[in-house]
Amino acid sequence: MDTSEHRLVIASNNKGKINELRQMITNVELLSLSDVGFTQEIPEPFQTFEENALIKAETIHKYTGLNVLADDSGICVSYLEGKPGVDSAHYSGSRDDEANLQLVLSNMKDAEDRSAYYKAVICLIWDGEMNYFEGKCDGTILREKHGTGGFGYDPIFAPEGYQQTFAELPPEVKNSISHRGKAVRKMVDFIQSVTGNK
Ligand code: IMP
Repeated sequence: MDTSEHRLVIASNNKGKINELRQMITNVELLSLSDVGFTQEIPEPFQTFEENALIKAETIHKYTGLNVLADDSGICVSYLEGKPGVDSAHYSGSRDDEANLQLVLSNMKDAEDRSAYYKAVICLIWDGEMNYFEGKCDGTILREKHGTGGFGYDPIFAPEGYQQTFAELPPEVKNSISHRGKAVRKMVDFIQSVTGNK
């Protein structure tokens, strides 16, 4: 397979997210922001996943002229009226996963309704055209942390149908049911349909 014209830049500095994307996307050559020499913060000023995914993808597309993938994602908790949502990465005021997760647990200490979902929106700029792919994963927020895998809120999120959290389940299982996995599979199918690369 000649992937030279099928390179794709991942517009993210989030290591957990990048790891998962790399596990699941094998039909194109992936480049990181450091591969393309982009060292600034990418703006995420909006209140929807779609708008934030778009501005991240556009920022890197303007910088590189290459195909770009941006994932904007987060966890939406019913008891917290959909928060942390688009603010998931900095819910506590810092980008510290542990502080963010602890704030969700303390804000939910009296909550009976523990339902939540993860959502991911991928904006793919491919051959200059914008495409969106979405995925959602329903589950519940536990009362304490379990497991050491995954990232972000995974130690407190048990997906529907499982007793274990995303931090306890093997990565292949998480990828097979997660919000990101669902969005990525739609994107991979799209890339395959336009390039023929499996
Ligand atoms: P973004 O960079 O604004 O898209 O931030 C995404 C944030 O949402 C991450 O920093 C995590 O806090 C949270 N998040 C998104 N997807 C996941 C996941 O699969 N596991 C755990 N946390 C996630």
